[in-house]
Amino acid sequence: MKSNKNHSRRNFIIGGLAAGGSVVAGQALSAGDAAIIDKQPWSNELGDGVDVRPYGFPSKFVSNVKRRNVEWLTASTESSVNFTPIHELEGIITPNGLCFERHHAGIAEIDPTQYRFMINGLVEKELVFTLDDLKRFPRENKIYFLECAANGGMEWKGAQLNGCQFTHGMIHNVMYTGIPLKLILQEAGLKGNAKWILAEGADASAMTRSIPIEKVLQDCLVAFAMNGEALRPEQGYPVRLVVPGWEGNMWVKWLRRIEVGDQPWQHREETSKYTDLMQNGKARNFSWEMDAKSVITNPSPQAPLNHARGHTVISGIAWSGRGKVREVHVSLDGGKNWRKARIDGPSLDRSVHRFYYDFDWTGEELLIQSRAIDSIGYVQPTKDALRKVRGSNSIYHNNGIQTWHIRKNGEVENVEVS
Ligand code: MTE
Repeated sequence: MKSNKNHSRRNFIIGGLAAGGSVVAGQALSAGDAAIIDKQPWSNELGDGVDVRPYGFPSKFVSNVKRRNVEWLTASTESSVNFTPIHELEGIITPNGLCFERHHAGIAEIDPTQYRFMINGLVEKELVFTLDDLKRFPRENKIYFLECAANGGMEWKGAQLNGCQFTHGMIHNVMYTGIPLKLILQEAGLKGNAKWILAEGADASAMTRSIPIEKVLQDCLVAFAMNGEALRPEQGYPVRLVVPGWEGNMWVKWLRRIEVGDQPWQHREETSKYTDLMQNGKARNFSWEMDAKSVITNPSPQAPLNHARGHTVISGIAWSGRGKVREVHVSLDGGKNWRKARIDGPSLDRSVHRFYYDFDWTGEELLIQSRAIDSIGYVQPTKDALRKVRGSNSIYHNNGIQTWHIRKNGEVENVEVS
């Protein structure tokens, strides 16, 4: 095990672990418990009236549930990233206010009345749409994950960041309402030599990515709503591109233009950035699909075990850019033995899946891991297996198995086993 502490995996004796076992017991009733016998203020006084919170916010008691950044990764907040608090979330949907943000030139605040969306290039008619025009196309509702290709990027060189929010929090999973881009392109009429599109953002970075026409016609959406309400400014209000299963950088926010062409544009974001430097010094480009991945969100360094022993719930998320997640396995001994976890909630194509593993914790130290197997049979690799093929010069596309070390006192640390 590699970490800032010098432990060896052999030192871990894991005994008596049984899936299932006794159900969690409540505490015995205590006659003097003030929380039961005293009348609490919330039962005694009137609460806020209906007009006080016209747009609802979470309880003040969960104010720690928030996006966070990593100071040493934040040179300027306008060209930076913060992370989804995945250790604080349940189910599969990311609430709008907690979706991680990745901007290259800050959040563009677009006046929807001045918003225009243009189609040009290899089409029969070049067209411009207002937001209202776009909303007259037939629309679809789809739940998809968006993962930044750099999610886990800091971990290529070893265990670094102590919290799944920071190691895996460049992901969100949202229901989008949008228009199939295919329908808009049909309106413009694709020319016979149309092979690629260029998607361009209206922010000051004018983010641009080339996307092959097959993908565009298959499932890309021009989305204007997330989880039932207008896109948040951070996520591209009023319109963003949705590229299901493919790396987040291609999901252009504040989408203002689609150009149709016959070859990729080779812009900055697909040449100098978002390529994978391999062991032989050559870079792999166009690694679009996100490989299957999973992580245990609870327990994890920011969410330690707060009970001594007994019935314990392991919870986590898994996803694949190639389809559904077929199975998730959990190990308690650093990958020597694997047990099948229970997937609960909707199992949707290219969406986050929620998994649970219940067991009786004896109070011993554990090395917990999860691995996802997707619907095409791909098995999430160990970090060592990944490095054998990719070297350790990469930043992007790190889907290696994550290990958390649980100490006897319930504290959790980010480590690696080999
Ligand atoms: N689109 C524009 N116009 N500008 C940007 O900076 N960042 C990209 C992509 N789309 C970006 C953009 C990157 S790198 C990622 S990972 C995702 O948006 C992040 O989406 P989010 O902020 O909704 O999490």
